[in-house]
Amino acid sequence: MTTSATARAFANIAFIKYWGNRDDELRLPANPSLSMNLDGLYAQTRVIWDDNLTDDSLILNDEPQRGKALERVSRHLDIMRQRLCIQSRAQVISHNNFPMGAGIASSAAAFAALTLAAAQAGGVSLEERELSALARRGSGSAARSIPSGFVVWHQGHDHESSYAESVAAPDHWDLVDVIAIISAAHKATGSEDGHKTAATSDLQVARVHGAQSRLETCLEALRTRDFPLLAQVVEHDSNLMHAVMMTSRPPLFYWLPTTLAVMQAVRQWRAEGLNICYTLDAGPNVHCLCLSAEAPIIQERLSSIPGVRQIVSAKPGGAAKIIA
Ligand code: DP6
Repeated sequence: MTTSATARAFANIAFIKYWGNRDDELRLPANPSLSMNLDGLYAQTRVIWDDNLTDDSLILNDEPQRGKALERVSRHLDIMRQRLCIQSRAQVISHNNFPMGAGIASSAAAFAALTLAAAQAGGVSLEERELSALARRGSGSAARSIPSGFVVWHQGHDHESSYAESVAAPDHWDLVDVIAIISAAHKATGSEDGHKTAATSDLQVARVHGAQSRLETCLEALRTRDFPLLAQVVEHDSNLMHAVMMTSRPPLFYWLPTTLAVMQAVRQWRAEGLNICYTLDAGPNVHCLCLSAEAPIIQERLSSIPGVRQIVSAKPGGAAKIIA
């Protein structure tokens, strides 16, 4: 017998970052985090459970995968098989519509879409909370790509209690993430290995200690649509995470010279009156958050900075959904 389903999930950008796990196996994070889904930047994944297969397979952006990418998907399918009481192997066909080689993190969208499609194809309708917790097992930030809009991932203390939920709908605030793409090169150290080194930085304890308070400040900024407050806490949280990365052993330096040039320009433009702030994930590209009315001028200014190769923009996005 074969059963199949297709799901689509958006990528997300964290305003309060997830960096480091208390439990690597379960992906229980060291701190709670908060993010915005990125409308239009999605992974679309079809899962076909098939009794006749002897192994799982993965086709990503039309290319059959082996090695690490397939192993990670197959490990996640094991978790889904256990939950859904399925013995079959699966064929997974996925593509994302991010600009090719733009270096935008794809694991959040990918594992959120995979989790939803696998459950639906298995004939089981799971609550959003459980889908989020399951997506977390594939990639921590994928927990946040299940619910809609602006999302908080509760740290939790076990599998069930560590899940994400929406705190505001996409239309709550007309923010735009204008992403300055600086390098398309593959990261030397991905976030999976990065999380494991977080605790080797003396600064991680302090970052984790203040995370709940920063998250509350960020929630307040969201609730009242207070851009200056959002800018202050989002940049501070990103700077703290990168300070931890740079002081880990071995250290992780994700910035390139253009990264710093963009960060300085953003701070300058804010001082001149624009509503803009930056945040960076585990890579050199700079996510510039701004109000939609000011997005065109920010896109124009960013694209004139030498070393900025491409600009990609996204509004707040909705929840992961079944599309077939
Ligand atoms: C820097 O969710 O990509 O983007 O669980 O190993 O897949 P894995 O890690 P991942 O880590 C995201 C780290 C970050 C910050 C964030 O999105 O909160």
